[in-house]
Amino acid sequence: MSRVLVAPSILGCDQGMLGPASRSLQDAGADMIHLDVMDGVFVPVLTVGSGVAAAVCSSVDIPVDAHLMVSRPGDLIDAFAEAGCGYITVHAEVDPHMDRLLCRIREAGCLAGLAFNPSTPLDMLRWEAKSVDLVLIMTVNPGYGGQEHMAHLHGKVRMARELLDSHGGGEALVAVDGGVNDSNSRALVQAGADILVSGSFITGSHDPAEAIRRLR
Ligand code: DX5
Ligand code: ZN
Repeated sequence: MSRVLVAPSILGCDQGMLGPASRSLQDAGADMIHLDVMDGVFVPVLTVGSGVAAAVCSSVDIPVDAHLMVSRPGDLIDAFAEAGCGYITVHAEVDPHMDRLLCRIREAGCLAGLAFNPSTPLDMLRWEAKSVDLVLIMTVNPGYGGQEHMAHLHGKVRMARELLDSHGGGEALVAVDGGVNDSNSRALVQAGADILVSGSFITGSHDPAEAIRRLR
């Protein structure tokens, strides 16, 4: 088993200090920064735009994944690519032209992520396995940090890995987002997770470096 990557979500950090907060998470051992972008439409909450993404990207040397929980991600791809995001992750629920959208993310010079809400089937992966670099399995309903992890979705993590491997997407990484902590991280890695996205467990901890170590 290769080393699992830890991607702290900065949703719960001081929103006026996201650059320095990201830098200190990098120093604490983070492999990626997970930036939750919410538009107040796809999910009820409104968070940050590409200006803040640029501040975060310029504060760290590790990749930033912009998790776009927005209803019109196509309008934002160029701006988040120019901000310096390494990954742009869009939701499977929002666009009937997902193949085009994923291609546009790669054309913009980024790695393409595809996120699935808890109730969304993974069927699309059969046809898009070669078009994705990351698949994000949501283990909470998106919109808020600090929610309870849905452990019944671990089988979906395994299914994502299998669908990718059997349809030409063997290089793509599987990430899990929502309520990830040190009591479920081992089971998630055993189910096939390559990336553990974790917000409150890391940023709500007195010792984020220790929290990251415990997740691994
Ligand atoms: C939920 C977000 C998650 C969340 C993670 O809508 O996509 O990234 O902030 O935070 P925790 O780990 O607290 O669930
Ligand atoms: Zn997220």
